[in-house]
Amino acid sequence: MYSIEYSILGCKSLLIPRSLKDARENINDATPQHQFLGSHLSDIRKELGAWRGVLENLEDVSSLFDAMAGCGFSARVFEQVFPGVPIRLNDLDPACSHILTANFPESDVCSKDVRQLEFDGSDLVFIDFNSMTMRKWGFWGETILKAAEASRILVITDSACYGFHMGNLKAYGVESPHDYYRLYNERIPGKNVSMVADFGNAALVVLEDVSARSPVFLVSSEPIPIHYGPRGIL
Ligand SMILES: C[S@@+](CC[C@H](N)C(=O)[O-])C[C@H]1O[C@@H](n2cnc3c(N)ncnc32)[C@H](O)[C@@H]1O
Repeated sequence: MYSIEYSILGCKSLLIPRSLKDARENINDATPQHQFLGSHLSDIRKELGAWRGVLENLEDVSSLFDAMAGCGFSARVFEQVFPGVPIRLNDLDPACSHILTANFPESDVCSKDVRQLEFDGSDLVFIDFNSMTMRKWGFWGETILKAAEASRILVITDSACYGFHMGNLKAYGVESPHDYYRLYNERIPGKNVSMVADFGNAALVVLEDVSARSPVFLVSSEPIPIHYGPRGIL
C-alpha cells in the first residue's frame, strides 16, 4: 500500500492498493478506481474540486452513502466539508472495499453491485459512475430511481458533457446542455436538478426534492491537488 496526501483540505492521508497501474486505461463501467488513478489524476483532481464545490453549496447534510466509492477520495473531501457526519461506503471491487475499510475505519463498508444496494436512511447518496449518460438509462435508470426515492439529495456523475464540449449534442437529441439535464426532471419523480458541476470530462448532477429554483451551473471549481507520500506512486 502507498500513502497519498493532499494539501488543500488538510493533511489526512489516503491509502491506495498496490495494484495501481501506470498505463493509460480505457475506462468502462466497472473499471476500479485504482486501475486508472495513475493516468487520470488530473481528471480526479478536477472532479474532487467540483465535488467540493457542490458540497459547499449544500446545507445540513446528516449522512452520506458513497455507493461507488473507489479508494475514497470523494469521501475524504466530504469528511473535510462535513466533519463528523456518518459515511457509508461501497465498491464492487474487493481491492477498493478493502482499502476503504483501512481508510475509513469508522465507516460501514460493503462490496456489492450498486444495482443491489438499498439506500434507505441516507440523506445524501453519491453515485460516481465511470461512464454514465442518459443513453445508458436502460441499464442504470432503475438504480438511479431507487437511490433518488430513498434519499433527500442524490448526486450522480454524468459523462455526456464530454461530448457536449465537442459539439455533440445531437447524440442525445437535445439543443443545449440545459435541455439534456432537464431530462432528469422528467425521468425522476419528486426530484429536480438543482446543480450541475461540469468539470470537463464529466459533470456532477445534483438532484434534490422538487423546488422552484432553477439549476445552478457551477463551472469554475478549482482542482484539488494530490501530493504523494514519501515513497511516491508513479
Ligand atoms: C469513478 S470510480 C469512483 C471513485 C471514487 N469517487 C473515489 O473517490 O475514489 C467508480 C468506482 O465504481 C466501482 N464500480 C464499478 N461498477 C460498479 C458496480 N456495478 N457496483 C459498485 N461499484 C462499481 C469501480 O470499482 C470504481 O472504483
